[in-house]
Amino acid sequence: MLVTMDKIVGWSKRKGFIFPGSEIYGGFGNSYTYGPYGSELKNNIKAYWWKRFIHEREDMTGIDGDIILHPRTWEASGHVEGFNDQQVDCKECKTRMRADHLVEDALGVDCEGLPDEEVSKLIKDNNIKCSKCGSENLTEVRKFNLMFQTQMAKVGENSTAYLRPETAQAIFLEFKNVLDSTRLKFPFGIGQIGKAFRNEITPGNFIFRRLEFEQMEIEYFIREEDWEELFVMWQKEMKAWCDEIGLSRDKCHDLEHDKEKLSHYSKRTVDIEYDFPFGKKELYGLAYRTNFDLSQHEKFSGKKLRYRDSETNEEFVPHVLEPTFGVDRTVLAVICDAYNEESLEDGTSRVVLKFVPKLAPVKVAVLPLMKKDGLPKKAQEVFKKVKVFGNCEMDISGTIGKRYRRQDEVGTPVCVTIDYDTLEDESVTIRDRDTMEQKRVKISELLNILGESYFN
Ligand code: GAP
Repeated sequence: MLVTMDKIVGWSKRKGFIFPGSEIYGGFGNSYTYGPYGSELKNNIKAYWWKRFIHEREDMTGIDGDIILHPRTWEASGHVEGFNDQQVDCKECKTRMRADHLVEDALGVDCEGLPDEEVSKLIKDNNIKCSKCGSENLTEVRKFNLMFQTQMAKVGENSTAYLRPETAQAIFLEFKNVLDSTRLKFPFGIGQIGKAFRNEITPGNFIFRRLEFEQMEIEYFIREEDWEELFVMWQKEMKAWCDEIGLSRDKCHDLEHDKEKLSHYSKRTVDIEYDFPFGKKELYGLAYRTNFDLSQHEKFSGKKLRYRDSETNEEFVPHVLEPTFGVDRTVLAVICDAYNEESLEDGTSRVVLKFVPKLAPVKVAVLPLMKKDGLPKKAQEVFKKVKVFGNCEMDISGTIGKRYRRQDEVGTPVCVTIDYDTLEDESVTIRDRDTMEQKRVKISELLNILGESYFN
């Protein structure tokens, strides 16, 4: 079965996962709305990430910083100067394009690190055309800063501020406050989940490349000499996370960045790429940022950002490993991996989303066989019980077969059916989403059985 983006986009809208944003006004660029099921899925991903990395590890804590930080932050971090993409415009149809993407698509050449003039030359020498109208009448390649700017009402020396392009920087700014207010010992990490904004020249591929997106980032503070060993530890942690959220191992790949093409702050970066329907693309990244950021903020703020070892009294600017996870890309990868179309023995077919239960937007659906004779009332009793597992649904309309299909299509791991026997013997039928097997259990044992089989 071929999972195409058309299928994913159509299903997402139809089933209330992701809608095109501002649709009643004809849509707006790359804006999307996570619908009732989509927002559950996204929240489950974020909640599991927080539990997995912040609560379950003893060496981690979390913060929640602002989107608009002091503008000097972005001078210190290098984003004002260096957070650029190369753009080229078509003089005929006025389409704006990523120059590096244009060259990569036409020649298979990676332009990362190449100066603008060289990329312009590649485009001219190879007669590369506008991706929209096919014209060769293109501008020279220019740098385009990806940060969204805004003006503050309170006018000071400079009223320009930026929407953060990464969540990471607030962690660096608060490094000392966290250190002084907690009892964390080296090495330790600070995590954060939040929105980031990038004025991408060519957003696209649904929610893959967006102007407004969410990140889950960790800055893990270390001694310089430990970086290689701890880099491997984080690689393992990130792979384990991919397994735990249900991504197929054979669709996740490591991409080691070439040394000469690394970001300005990084000494080693390994991405985890995922086989999306539109190709193998970056899902997550792990970077060794050295002590670049804290040193820069020391320089720009004049404040010391150091760790003092209480035993040796040694004081130093910590080095940092950064595992970074895009929320929207996680949602997309999880959906693509879970999406299945199956032909059934009776000649029918079904769409089924095989989400791991902890991420499923609906945990349990309770289905009274009929709308009468006390079955809905009994179903309500069961519904109240199963809600301990999270968001659950009562579905009372349509044939039981149709209701099972409806739940399969939103990935509900288990349905509980209430029938006439339930009223007699206090037992219900549980039906498994993946195997479609059904078994009869006592209501008194239901929570234990569901807990053990699905939600432990
Ligand atoms: N703090 C490091 C950093 O921001 P990045 O590789 O630029 O590194 C981290 O971004 C992650 O954020 C990416 O691996 C990806 O999952 C996500 N991401 C980046 N740009 C995005 C965009 N325009 N739309 C959606 N997700 C994006």
